[in-house]
Amino acid sequence: MGYRVVVAGATGNVGREMVNILAEREFPADEIALLASSRSQGDEIEYGDTGRMLKVQNIEHFDPAGWDIALFAIGSEATKVYAPKFAAAGCTVIDNSSLYRMDPDVPLIVPEVNPDAIDGYRAKNIIANPNCSTAQMVVALKPLHDAATIRRVVVATYQSVSGAGKQGMDELFEQSRNIFVGDPATPQKFTKQIAFNVIPHIDSFLDDGSTKEEWKMVVETKKIMGAKIKVTATCVRVPVFVGHSEAINIEFEDEISAARAKSILREAPGIMLVDAHEDGGYVTPIECVGEFATYVSRVREDPTVDNGLSLWCVSDNLRKGAALNAVQIAELLGRRYLKKAA
Ligand SMILES: NC(=O)c1ccc[n+]([C@@H]2O[C@H](COP(=O)([O-])OP(=O)(O)OC[C@H]3O[C@@H](n4cnc5c(N)ncnc54)[C@H](OP(=O)(O)O)[C@@H]3O)[C@@H](O)[C@H]2O)c1
Repeated sequence: MGYRVVVAGATGNVGREMVNILAEREFPADEIALLASSRSQGDEIEYGDTGRMLKVQNIEHFDPAGWDIALFAIGSEATKVYAPKFAAAGCTVIDNSSLYRMDPDVPLIVPEVNPDAIDGYRAKNIIANPNCSTAQMVVALKPLHDAATIRRVVVATYQSVSGAGKQGMDELFEQSRNIFVGDPATPQKFTKQIAFNVIPHIDSFLDDGSTKEEWKMVVETKKIMGAKIKVTATCVRVPVFVGHSEAINIEFEDEISAARAKSILREAPGIMLVDAHEDGGYVTPIECVGEFATYVSRVREDPTVDNGLSLWCVSDNLRKGAALNAVQIAELLGRRYLKKAA
């Protein structure tokens, strides 16, 4: 017997990927309910490439009693309303919004990195998925941390517009088209023109001059990997549709050569090392779209600090940064606790 699974936000960027990934990974689901707002009620979405069409239901009228797992990607405001209701009805919520990530009673999970932390999910019956930039970074950091203990991380991100939802993708597309035909490219979703530009600002500003996106990378990395790791981030939106990139500089407690780091990364779960010192011997965001892996390239020693390494890390933000990680959490939950499916 399999699970009864809900995907809330099934019409969005992350929700559609969650539906695809459940199908691709043949998640043991006996029944799937797709939910979104009243705007999408009655829309049809295909379950992966199976030809099986599922109707979208309005979350307002959905009764979660008797459902096992709900994968949420509906933003913090709607999550605040519906996640407690689903969790109280016995349906475990795996949430993509930032609402519960720093709640001490909610585990924040990346299955390759801190699977055991899932044990705390029963306190609220909710599990949080990290921010997209944090998820791919900790997958790359964890095996190196285990080998040489990370002291400090300096990261600059190059984040695609799909990280800002459907509206973000539409804005890059429309601005690019408008510029080619000589029409004005007026910003709406983003604070400045995103087509043919980069914007060093994601989410709101905090009192210290950093942004909330940068703060999330700091505190979420600590929650997942340990409070001692120091992180400083600069998060930048770039005119790429899908795929986040990160230039990461790491200082370790212990000595670690680039050669050793590469051999560790080659074996590490969830990572694909592509690092040839030649033209094109690295991965760019366009190549990671639709993939499960977090790609690491350009691993090299940083001689300006003791025990320093620099690397380049790329992943599909809608997959490892959100939908794939959520489905992996559901798989982990099933294996450890729900034990329903064969
Ligand atoms: N994109 C990423 O890389 C990424 C990564 C990590 C986490 N996240 C998080 O995942 C969540 C979804 O992001 P997204 O990029 O998929 O956004 P999106 O493309 O804008 O989609 C939003 C989804 O939420 C639904 N929704 C909005 N308000 C709702 C309401 N009141 N009741 C029910 N459904 C509602 C929408 O339904 P309608 O179509 O009916 O409006 C749609 O399905 C956000 O919390 C985001 O922060 C995104």
